[in-house]
Amino acid sequence: MSPWSWFLLQTLCLLPTGAASRRGAPGTANCELKPQQSELNSFLWTIKRDPPSYFFGTIHVPYTRVWDFIPDNSKEAFLQSSIVYFELDLTDPYTISALTSCQMLPQGENLQDVLPRDIYCRLKRHLEYVKLMMPLWMTPDQRGKGLYADYLFNAIAGNWERKRPVWVMLMVNSLTEVDIKSRGVPVLDLFLAQEAERLRKQTGAVEKVEEQCHPLNGLNFSQVIFALNQTLLQQESLRAGSLQIPYTTEDLIKHYNCGDLSSVILSHDSSQVPNFINATLPPQERITAQEIDSYLRRELIYKRNERIGKRVKALLEEFPDKGFFFAFGAASQ
Ligand SMILES: *[C@@H]1O[C@H](CO)[C@@H](O)[C@H](O)[C@H]1NC(C)=O
Ligand SMILES: *[C@@H]1O[C@H](CO)[C@@H](O)[C@H](O)[C@H]1NC(C)=O
Ligand SMILES: *[C@@H]1O[C@H](CO)[C@@H](O)[C@H](O)[C@H]1NC(C)=O
Repeated sequence: MSPWSWFLLQTLCLLPTGAASRRGAPGTANCELKPQQSELNSFLWTIKRDPPSYFFGTIHVPYTRVWDFIPDNSKEAFLQSSIVYFELDLTDPYTISALTSCQMLPQGENLQDVLPRDIYCRLKRHLEYVKLMMPLWMTPDQRGKGLYADYLFNAIAGNWERKRPVWVMLMVNSLTEVDIKSRGVPVLDLFLAQEAERLRKQTGAVEKVEEQCHPLNGLNFSQVIFALNQTLLQQESLRAGSLQIPYTTEDLIKHYNCGDLSSVILSHDSSQVPNFINATLPPQERITAQEIDSYLRRELIYKRNERIGKRVKALLEEFPDKGFFFAFGAASQ
């Protein structure tokens, strides 16, 4: 995961009260990882009522990477709660198809018509490279589970020429070697949704697909081209071996397992965005980066927290004798 997608992922998260003002040191999780109950930090907040309700911060990485570090009290709270709410209901086929169509260009358009020629060609070249590398990136374990490189590439990028540029940018960010290696195991939030279903809990979602999708579609053309260009420049440096990804999924997992919420959520601040590629950006581009940053913060953090907060409050008031478990992304995709 690149700084740029890191930044976007973070803006897609719900900020727990109190965590916003602290800033972690990105890339350095300085706790010793010991899966001993007494030493585990949790991402669980309790709403004191009878029965209690809970907020739990999930993460969008394979659950097997974090499960042993989630304390028993959090797992117990999940089991005890009769109703589980997520941001979106990812087990609902409607949610998935609505997300997919929200990411598509209007009927009849495709990227070749929309993107500047230079960007389009670099994008195409990069995806050809990814397709070529995919079989080498996959692990024996993934192959053992019957996951094929062609299938995986098509599942992630098959329809790329029909996607809106902003979603292609996010897609390119998720097509790195480390991210590919982690495909095939459900991510924690999806795993919890599957468990809730298996355990026949009542489930629900506080957000509509449009509410998560439209803000990103609301970035204007020059902003999106800027972001896509920066993303491609970064991937091209990676390919050339002149850039190491500073924040990887591994760091995110380590911070999460360390219970280091401030780093999981806010290792980014506005001033870092323009520098996500080492080279200093020219003044005009710096302004564009800052405009994108404040737009996304406003739309995806502040407005969304307010919306989610209202809906949670309404649910708790409407059903005072129910135990809710709210599982929202601490850093989600
Ligand atoms: C995009 O939005 C920015 C900031 O609001 C503005 O300065 C710029 O002119 C807009 N570009 C286009 C193509 O609309
Ligand atoms: C991409 O970014 C580079 C470096 O900031 C810039 O020189 C170039 O003109 C940009 N390309 C496009 C098509 O925006
Ligand atoms: C970015 O900076 C790091 C150290 O700060 C350096 O090792 C790396 O080579 C730089 N990458 C580019 C593309 O300049």
